[in-house]
Amino acid sequence: MKKKLFVINGPNLNLLGEREPGIYGSQTLKQINDEIRQAFPEIDFIFVQSNHEGDLVDAIHQAFQKEADGLVINAGAYTHTSIAIRDAISAVKIPAIEVHLSNVFARESFRHTSLLSPVCMGAISGFGARSYHLAVRVFADERPQ
Ligand code: DQA
Repeated sequence: MKKKLFVINGPNLNLLGEREPGIYGSQTLKQINDEIRQAFPEIDFIFVQSNHEGDLVDAIHQAFQKEADGLVINAGAYTHTSIAIRDAISAVKIPAIEVHLSNVFARESFRHTSLLSPVCMGAISGFGARSYHLAVRVFADERPQ
């Protein structure tokens, strides 16, 4: 059976392509998602984007209801502030990988703290759209125990 992954994007990531391209690249979120789908035909993807914290919590719950095998999450600025998203990830116990397009550690100090990292398998930051591919690769390579 195909693995099922939720790829969840948070606030302002709907503006990719136009938003600070020097930091986030020139690809739109749709282009990034299409390339992920093409690169991993062996995986079923559900792509979600929302600017609203509660919707992101709902998407994580939905991943649980749909028995997803993994979550790839770029929570945008909520990474640095959201206890609710952190609690949702730890509540559903679905393995999650945090991703960021930019290298958050090379930026403002308020981006150096992630409330999500402690409840994720790991975090990938700084590789542009490739951050998502690297995260999906981890799930694609994983064999059932
Ligand atoms: C981001 C980094 C966050 O600090 C920022 O708020 C974003 C995007 C990234 O992908 O580099 O919205 O998550």
